[in-house]
Amino acid sequence: MRIHTFSCRGFRNLQPLEFSPDAGMNVICGENAQGKTNLLEGLWLFTGAKSFRGAKDGELIRFGEPKAELELTFTGEEVEKTAGLTVEERRVAFLHGKKLPSPASLAGQFCAIVFSPADLSLVRDGPAVRRRFLDLAISQIYPNYPAILRAYLRALGQRNSVLRDLKYHPEIEALLDPFEDELAAQGIKILRYRTRYLERLRETLPKIYHGLSGQRETLTAEYLCSAEGENLRAALVASRRQDCHLAATSVGPHRDDLALQIDGMPARNYGSQGQKRSVALALKLAEADVLRRMTGETPVALLDDVMSELDPGRQDYVLNHIRDWQVFLTCCDPSNVVRLAQGAVYEMRGGALLPGQKR
Ligand SMILES: Nc1ncnc2c1ncn2[C@@H]1O[C@H](COP(=O)(O)OP(=O)(O)OP(=O)(O)O)[C@@H](O)[C@H]1O
Ligand SMILES: [Mg+2]
Repeated sequence: MRIHTFSCRGFRNLQPLEFSPDAGMNVICGENAQGKTNLLEGLWLFTGAKSFRGAKDGELIRFGEPKAELELTFTGEEVEKTAGLTVEERRVAFLHGKKLPSPASLAGQFCAIVFSPADLSLVRDGPAVRRRFLDLAISQIYPNYPAILRAYLRALGQRNSVLRDLKYHPEIEALLDPFEDELAAQGIKILRYRTRYLERLRETLPKIYHGLSGQRETLTAEYLCSAEGENLRAALVASRRQDCHLAATSVGPHRDDLALQIDGMPARNYGSQGQKRSVALALKLAEADVLRRMTGETPVALLDDVMSELDPGRQDYVLNHIRDWQVFLTCCDPSNVVRLAQGAVYEMRGGALLPGQKR
């Protein structure tokens, strides 16, 4: 995957921009609040996913402007493509000028991985973040996966709403049946996608973490299933009484987790700050490797403010790992880029991207 040009207007704090990045490393330096992350966010939106900052679509539009318009030309699957995005109340996506059914349809056209300090939450926070990581990663490879997830969540909402009434109307218990059928049918698909994906992730994850930690530590990732095996339908029936009391569904993929352990100890509870950061980074790099092996495309790497938080050994490991990729790397301190042998350096100032120098 290679970006040729990116242009935008009315997007965040960025000045109207036409940008032809280097094929390899692009370093974007600048003081705080100048628009560095905004630029990465603009590129990221072409994966079809929502903003990695969790922003609502409307927040992407520059204050006081009616809409934001972005355009990306890139080569994917050896074909040059032009994608467009406009944001008014919502995002609308175009490919070669033709409107797509939804922005998510861009998935599979353009692929990228993003890593930012907020990704520490992958290790630090609860299971929901790790499920989301798996689901997003799978969606980039299997465009029909989001529809399965949606069908599952719809049935989940319906089962929970019956559960809420069940306390007062025990006679409606049979209403749970069709929703549990649907939960089991979709849930098993989700489980299979996730476990298969995790197998792929594990082909490189331990190696990457081992390298990042200077060959000192071992990382394992295990899928924790709330309903044993594939017997989700039976587990749902068995948990009816308890679930009625909770007015929530206590088993199923929406309660599963990804257990991350460093040398046999849970990273969430025992990992140091630097270890947690390295685990999160290893997950993202392994995600990119899976994407690469499955699609034959090397994703674009968007690394937001990552280098400053890694010691020189870890920095070198990352830079070496992504040596052949197109990379967009932001940092505040230009001295961080001295170690980069090639590529272009730009400065972001007040939303304007100042021309880079070839190194
Ligand atoms: N919709 C918007 N319209 C105009 N300005 C916006 C909008 N959304 C965000 N901004 C502004 O963009 C500025 C730059 O944000 P950005 O996160 O890209 O900074 P940054 O260069 O990554 O800084 P840091 O080094 O602190 O991470 C912020 O000051 C913010 O107020
Ligand atoms: Mg930033």
